[in-house]
Amino acid sequence: MDFNKEERFMSSMETIQDADSENILRPKTLESYIGQEKVKANLKVYIKAAKKRGEPLDHILLYGPPGLGKTTLANIVANEMGTSIKVTSGPALNTAADLAAILTGLQEGEVLFIDEIHRLNKSVEEKLYSAMEDFAIDMVWGKGPLANMTRLPVPKFTLVGATTKAGSLSSPLRDRFGVQFRLEMYTNEELSTIIKNSAKVLNIAIDEDGALEMAKRSRGTPRIANRLLKRIRDFAEIEGNGIIDKQITDLSLNRLEIDEFGLDVIDRRILEIMIDKFNGGPVGLDTLAAAVGEDVNTIEDMYEPYLMQITFIARTPRGRICLPDAYKHLGRKVPHYVEQLSMDLDSEDK
Ligand SMILES: Nc1ncnc2c1ncn2[C@@H]1O[C@H](COP(=O)(O)OP(=O)(O)OP(=O)(O)O)[C@@H](O)[C@H]1O
Ligand SMILES: [Mg+2]
Repeated sequence: MDFNKEERFMSSMETIQDADSENILRPKTLESYIGQEKVKANLKVYIKAAKKRGEPLDHILLYGPPGLGKTTLANIVANEMGTSIKVTSGPALNTAADLAAILTGLQEGEVLFIDEIHRLNKSVEEKLYSAMEDFAIDMVWGKGPLANMTRLPVPKFTLVGATTKAGSLSSPLRDRFGVQFRLEMYTNEELSTIIKNSAKVLNIAIDEDGALEMAKRSRGTPRIANRLLKRIRDFAEIEGNGIIDKQITDLSLNRLEIDEFGLDVIDRRILEIMIDKFNGGPVGLDTLAAAVGEDVNTIEDMYEPYLMQITFIARTPRGRICLPDAYKHLGRKVPHYVEQLSMDLDSEDK
């Protein structure tokens, strides 16, 4: 089947349709940001302390899979600090001059949000170091023997960097973030609260069981939860009585071929290929991606995090392996060696 990534319904990547509605659904305060309790508790302290001292907040790195609330949190940080935010991204900052323009245009205390910060090019990244540390940036004017360097002051600012790939960040950059938060996948209860809040904003009627069922199939990801809500509303209005309950949720998701774990056709294909072609692994990421017909990044960013979260697959030094839960979910018999391997992994964890 030809499955266009952009159209893949269960993708945690942002689509154009999401971008429109995400702004209204984005919580604006720490109080209304659901879940991520540890992150929130620490942030509260740092924000209070910075405000008390009348200083900008330390630089913050947010990392974790797509759709978990990094951009939302960056906006909340600015809001809670009572300041504004300027938004850019790694790929948008092509030259040191781009960076200098944005930095020197900042207001004192403002938040600069750099999304996909792992994609900054080296020369821009190096300029960022002194801006982060000394609130100054060295610019070279002219060429050859007549070139001279000026140190431009930069207003004191807070950098919030976001990345789905913390591993691709260089350590000098990483080390310059005083605060580093890893966002976790959300529990079903948290997702159900998010769904009910969004339903209120969008004026959609939904009951408790409907919200919980939708939560269970949202892959731990608020972005997917909100997207499901909007799709299922259509089914509720056309094929039901307008109210989203468990029954209409089941019916809609079955129609969309999304199973009770929130897995779609491609997730299941990944698991089937691992089991049928590679005896459950270990299989290298490149080999797996080629067999599935997806690119390596897509598998790594979009599919793997959730399949690992629900213990369907695991990463080992020799490659990816399928775990007993995946076999059971697909109605397959768990081979003895898989059972054994998973027990070995369990004991290594302890
Ligand atoms: N903690 C939360 N509480 C309520 N809603 C949330 C929360 N986190 C995220 N959302 C919802 O999910 C949507 C996606 O979140 P966001 O855009 O912040 O994710 P992201 O981590 O920046 O994703 P990406 O890596 O693709 O940039 C938001 O518009 C918001 O509606
Ligand atoms: Mg984002």
